[in-house]
Amino acid sequence: MWTVDKNVDNLETYPQIKEAAQNLKQNEVVAFPTETVYGLGGNAESDEAVLKIFEAKGRPGDNPLIIHIANTEQIHSFVKGIPEQASRLMDAFWPGPLTIILEKKEGTLSEKATAGLSTVAVRMPDHPVALALIEESGLPLAAPSANLSGKPSPTTAAHVADDLTGRISGIVDGGATGVGLESTVVDCTGGIPVILRPGGVTKEQLEEVVGEVSADPALTDEGQAPKAPGMKYRHYAPNSPFYLVDGSKEEIQQLVNEKRNEGQRVGVMTTKENKDFYDANVVKTCGERARLETVAEALYDTLRAFNKEDLDIIFGEIFPEQGVGQAIMNRLSKASGLPIIIK
Ligand code: TXA
Ligand code: MG
Repeated sequence: MWTVDKNVDNLETYPQIKEAAQNLKQNEVVAFPTETVYGLGGNAESDEAVLKIFEAKGRPGDNPLIIHIANTEQIHSFVKGIPEQASRLMDAFWPGPLTIILEKKEGTLSEKATAGLSTVAVRMPDHPVALALIEESGLPLAAPSANLSGKPSPTTAAHVADDLTGRISGIVDGGATGVGLESTVVDCTGGIPVILRPGGVTKEQLEEVVGEVSADPALTDEGQAPKAPGMKYRHYAPNSPFYLVDGSKEEIQQLVNEKRNEGQRVGVMTTKENKDFYDANVVKTCGERARLETVAEALYDTLRAFNKEDLDIIFGEIFPEQGVGQAIMNRLSKASGLPIIIK
């Protein structure tokens, strides 16, 4: 573990960053913080490094990785060109929680990093430690979230350690991440930009910059195949059945009572506003409903905390699908994998 204070100046000259960058140059894999979640980085130009990433995570080889860069010059070696809409999005949101899909230039990146696709996902993270590490390594870094495949993405170095200790070269600990959910993925290879994964940057924010933006129909229709290969997998799953409930707190408490009467141990996932209302075996608070960004920030930590409890069933409140609420509900639905209980 390399511990780094993200607020100090000249991070790239720090011995911890230099050592971690040295590992990356030797095609080892290293976890590092970004503003969204921790990433597991490796040299995107090396099959050897990229294979280590897939192995450490237990990730299916058909799921391509995001390439992380620290400056826009880095991008030209591996994309065919930057369309007008993409260029506007980069100016508006980079560095930041937005991943842009572009046509790939053959020959520089590892084919394994892009899972053999003709396109590539790119993002410039808004985190001083991530940027310093990329700069110091001099490499584009392929970096998926630094969790075991299927688990919630890590928002602290401790989460990474829980999942990947013994499987990677090291972790750069830069404290808790900020946004808490992964970046928004936008495909800019066609005319109108298409959201493939909702995330830190909302549809409304994108539309302010480029006008019309559409969303992959698979995000709302389970019968369709998602355009981002990773979106077809169940994710973030708690160990016990996790039901989202579209109903009042009284109705959720009623469900809790029924299950407890059957002798089950019941958990509830709620927010600060309602936490004192519930009577269950375990009640966990995930941020504050009135400020959805705090729900995003706390979401994965809360899901991971439920996995440390011995419960038969968990009920969770739902959120309005506006702004970052879209990404929150997308991740909660994937964590549940069950139909919403409608009261
Ligand atoms: O915030 C984030 O994006 C974090 C941090 C570490 O940067 N990274 C992350 O990576 O969430 P990962 O690998 O967990 O998710 C990448 C998503 C997957 O759903 C993948 O299928 C999709 O992006 N993706 C990658 N390349 C793609 C491509 N060329 N076309 C379509 N989807 C792609
Ligand atoms: Mg992931």
